[in-house]
Amino acid sequence: GTTLRAAAAEKGRYFGAAVATGKLSNGTYTTVLNREFNSVVAENEMKWDATEPSQGRFVYTGGDRLVSHAQANGMSVRGHALLWYQQQPVWAQNMSGSALRSAMINHVTQVATHFRGKIYAWDVVNEAFADGNSGGRRDSNLQRTGNDWIEAAFRAARTADPGAKLCYNDYNTDGINAKSTGIYNMVRDFKSRGVPIDCVGFQSHLGTSLSSDYQANLQRFADLGVEVQITELDVMTGGNQANVFAGVTRACMNVSRCTGITVWGVRDCDSWRGSDNALLFDCNGNKKPAYDAVLNALNSG
Ligand code: G3I
Repeated sequence: GTTLRAAAAEKGRYFGAAVATGKLSNGTYTTVLNREFNSVVAENEMKWDATEPSQGRFVYTGGDRLVSHAQANGMSVRGHALLWYQQQPVWAQNMSGSALRSAMINHVTQVATHFRGKIYAWDVVNEAFADGNSGGRRDSNLQRTGNDWIEAAFRAARTADPGAKLCYNDYNTDGINAKSTGIYNMVRDFKSRGVPIDCVGFQSHLGTSLSSDYQANLQRFADLGVEVQITELDVMTGGNQANVFAGVTRACMNVSRCTGITVWGVRDCDSWRGSDNALLFDCNGNKKPAYDAVLNALNSG
């Protein structure tokens, strides 16, 4: 293939980008997006603060716009994210206990129902595990509603949209470490008890090198019977940027249940990482060396 989307599709995979729908009117941005990517995810517009700004009042403007852009351009959609400790509306931040528990399950049900049939995979729960060596859950208002909040969310999402793959998504899971092992144990437990989970997202916000066990970590999750997806890839600039991007791409190609890669933005200047210049295109939409490295890895994978 001569584009990322064509090369990935030849290997039965997708290649996606996070999109801010406000940029869809920018010609440079949209030209690159439509030519190179066959999957999109909303960088912010499907999050809780955006979709339920006051309790029970749902706003789908940005999400609907992204879905129609995707449908018009042959792209699948990842949904991000139904529940997260960040970017909660203020009303939810101020709730706790059973009131919060009902509100969050209602949020999952309403949003997944609205987008039913249009989402390839949902990040049902994002970033619920702690950094560091505990391997345990992150403290949050959601966690304080009870340790079973994650499985309750997955069950509600399955009921609302039985056709969407349901993912757990997190960062600092780029190798075999305490955090990724905590998540691994949760997924194994969910599979053994029949809690609906179909995929695990590895955000992959990376520095200047790639863990030597990056692929082995993906593989151990795949061996549990879930899909794995690279969901928010970006890489610190520097001499190794192209190599790190290529290494991640090769790892995904080498794991048969790794179904796709999403980069967290289109051009360097669209990235939350600012001066890291962490993406595949420069601000004028020109391909960087990292682009060629990824395309080559897709074509030879
Ligand atoms: O939309 C408001 C705007 O109305 C307001 O004037 C402006 C002033 O600050 O803020 C705007 O909202 C910002 C929003 O991005 C849209 O630009 C928020 O402040 C800002 O916090 C928010 O940042 C997003 C961040 O998640 C929030 O934590 C980034 O764009 C987004 O790239 C980032 O994405 C996360 C993933 O969802 C989860 N994994 C990590 C990743 C990077 O942090």
